[in-house]
Amino acid sequence: MLNELNKKIINCQKCSLAKTRTNAVPGEGPDNAKIMFIGEALGEQEDIQGRPFVGPAGKFLTGLLNSINLQRDNVFISNVVKCRPKIDNRNRPPKIDEINACKPYLDEQIEIIKPKVIVTLGNIALQTLLGKKFTITKIHGKPQEKNRTIIFPMHHPAVAVRFPKFKKVMQEDVEKLKEVLKKEKIQLFKKKE
Ligand code: URA
Ligand code: SF4
Repeated sequence: MLNELNKKIINCQKCSLAKTRTNAVPGEGPDNAKIMFIGEALGEQEDIQGRPFVGPAGKFLTGLLNSINLQRDNVFISNVVKCRPKIDNRNRPPKIDEINACKPYLDEQIEIIKPKVIVTLGNIALQTLLGKKFTITKIHGKPQEKNRTIIFPMHHPAVAVRFPKFKKVMQEDVEKLKEVLKKEKIQLFKKKE
């Protein structure tokens, strides 16, 4: 089922980011993943390579996952916005109409994958899933619940790359995530069949 959705995303023309992108990136991971990580939008490397979180922020994220024995292969990784928003070849935050155009794809992915835990990375992913009254500075590391799915808010790894003091905060939060996964009896070590 993800296959069909992936095709729709790869060919999507629903917002103006389609004109400037190299690749639209649906995300990657098993379609029965128990955990999803959702970022904001593609950066330069993701746009070029056609994969989510493969630039500097992605390397930091992968290290965090590995530090609690999670492997990228066993989780689903994607973004709210599946193309790269840019200005003068620099990243910019996605606009509200871009988020609104792209969000149905994330909703469909969640519907198909039915994860037990969704880790939101940064404010955009958090507010897209839980609404504007939540802010990341207040609730990072504190699990929330929506439709019987646990939403676990974390800072965006790009913030930790830019401001190293956030690395410690993110490391602490990922340890809390590990406890949540343990409590929910979500297997960390075993490879998915
Ligand atoms: N930042 C994001 O939000 N997503 C990526 O895939 C890469 C960087
Ligand atoms: Fe389509 Fe989303 Fe890309 Fe816009 S950002 S073109 S809605 S896939």
